[in-house]
Amino acid sequence: MKGLILAGGSGSRLRPITHTGAKQLVPVANKPILFHGLEHLAAAGITEVGMVVGDTAAEIEAAVGDGSRWGMAVTYLPQAAPLGLAHAVLVARDFLGDDDFVMYLGDNLLRDGLVGFVDRFRAERADRRAPRLGESAEPPAARILLARVPDPQRFGVARFGPDGSLTGLVEKPTDPPSDLALVGVYLFDPRVHEAVRAIAPSERGELEITDALQWLIDRGHPVHHEVLQGWWIDTGKLTPLLEANRLLLEVLDPANEGAKVDEASQLDGRVVVCEDAEIVASTVRGPAVIGPRTRIIGSYIGPFTSVDRDCEIVDSELEHSIVLAGSRIENIPRIADSLIGRDVVVSRSARRPHANRLMLGDHSQVDLDQ
Ligand code: DAU
Repeated sequence: MKGLILAGGSGSRLRPITHTGAKQLVPVANKPILFHGLEHLAAAGITEVGMVVGDTAAEIEAAVGDGSRWGMAVTYLPQAAPLGLAHAVLVARDFLGDDDFVMYLGDNLLRDGLVGFVDRFRAERADRRAPRLGESAEPPAARILLARVPDPQRFGVARFGPDGSLTGLVEKPTDPPSDLALVGVYLFDPRVHEAVRAIAPSERGELEITDALQWLIDRGHPVHHEVLQGWWIDTGKLTPLLEANRLLLEVLDPANEGAKVDEASQLDGRVVVCEDAEIVASTVRGPAVIGPRTRIIGSYIGPFTSVDRDCEIVDSELEHSIVLAGSRIENIPRIADSLIGRDVVVSRSARRPHANRLMLGDHSQVDLDQ
């Protein structure tokens, strides 16, 4: 079985971070979202991966390389424009050949990984026994993963018949037929290639994978489903991204991987401090992770915070936030619920006249306390 990771798209909901970088590379718990996915695919025994890339191809390629770090061979598949998830399957046609494959959306994160899900499909596809009464004789053409969500309008949503069987899937419906959303991991056999060729673009101009699944169901090809138990997050927006960070930090094993922590400092709870970080006259209250070479001086780092490498936090308080590499925060009494990009400076000077002096990128968001 092959893997197909979708790492193209525009990332418009995480601007301005995604003006300069791929959304799939934003770190959660100081590790790019995409790397969590690659680890899960590797654990499920996938060794050949096609990576669909768009405008941010160079950055993704620089981060992932040839995949050998995960024991995989990664082939890059350029997609000229983000024309939809089913379009990405069209782009990958030659790479996928006639193999079964798992398609993984590069901005999705699943707590429990994919091993059980993938193994169940493998077993069903290998099972050549005679079908029992009422069972379909055909092996499944696809297997999908569903999760109960409070806001199904934001997702692909499953529809069921009176007997509880899956009858359809609809993309971002205003009037959702259920609260079971499609998680961004799908298992397919080669019949999907005919489906993605047959469907037409949706109203938003994309070739939807939900329409390809519907096409399979309408032609009687079995599409199996299961409901996810552990948490799952589509990290494409700020709030879910901070939530994913929180959930991953909560299971962190505390460790000092070679940081200097002075006697005036305190590390409470689940805290990871990485090599060559420095904690001076500060309190870090976990769950939190402090990246390599980052310096925390005279500051308080509160729960659910990830500070990436080469940052400096001086005389400040920071909580429930993600700070990307190379940023400096100085003399700020409190920052919370924030995502701070790379090489950003946030400081408070005593310069007069008193004023907020800003230089913000396009689509930035600032919420000032006073
Ligand atoms: O997260 C689950 C949801 O993902 C499903 O419930 C929906 O049915 C499905 O359509 C999808 O919805 P999103 O609106 O969240 O998809 P998004 O445009 O964010 O794209 C998902 C990933 O695929 C993201 O990493 C970017 C990549 N992508 C997207 C498109 C449209 C591509 O590589 N190429 C594309 O053409």
